[in-house]
Amino acid sequence: MPELIPILSKTAIDARVEEIAHRISEDYRDRDLILIGILKGAFIFLSDLIRHLTIPVKVDFMSVSSYGNGMSSTGQIRLHKDVELDLKNRDVLIVEDIVDTGVTLAYLVDYLKSSGAASVRICALIDKRERRQAAVAVDYAGHVVDKGFLVGYGLDYAEFYRNLPEIYHLKL
Ligand code: IMP
Ligand code: MG
Repeated sequence: MPELIPILSKTAIDARVEEIAHRISEDYRDRDLILIGILKGAFIFLSDLIRHLTIPVKVDFMSVSSYGNGMSSTGQIRLHKDVELDLKNRDVLIVEDIVDTGVTLAYLVDYLKSSGAASVRICALIDKRERRQAAVAVDYAGHVVDKGFLVGYGLDYAEFYRNLPEIYHLKL
């Protein structure tokens, strides 16, 4: 049976999400911010985050994948859904569930910069450091972990566990 070891409680997640939202609201005061949620993993984080923002923002989504149904990246990024809003001269903040190798975010930052955005920064709920390959600067990180495969609060394993309200380390 797979084992789920609790890593972050609902209370810990909520407190951190609120803190990040306050920082973003300060940093982007009087700017033209567009948040881009990366589907599917970031949908819960993004929806909690934006409800704590105190500045006007627009929201869009992209869907990319680098995984099959396994636990490690294939390194090949597939773009399933592009942004719909015009990003030209807008400040873009990518909202991602977890940064692992960094390959996905390196691709996204490049891609979004080439769309004419004034700035592109990264907000990730989890910054997982051990397997980093691409140098990406996580401007807003919820929690830093060294390693392990995490599920819950939007994060999946083979599409399951996204609905868990807390974050767990999955041991198969
Ligand atoms: P990267 O390109 O290796 O940084 O992978 C990023 C993507 O891999 C994330 O957006 C997740 O969808 C997925 N991922 C990486 N680590 C985990 C994990 O621990 N749990 C669930 N998904 C993960
Ligand atoms: Mg993801």
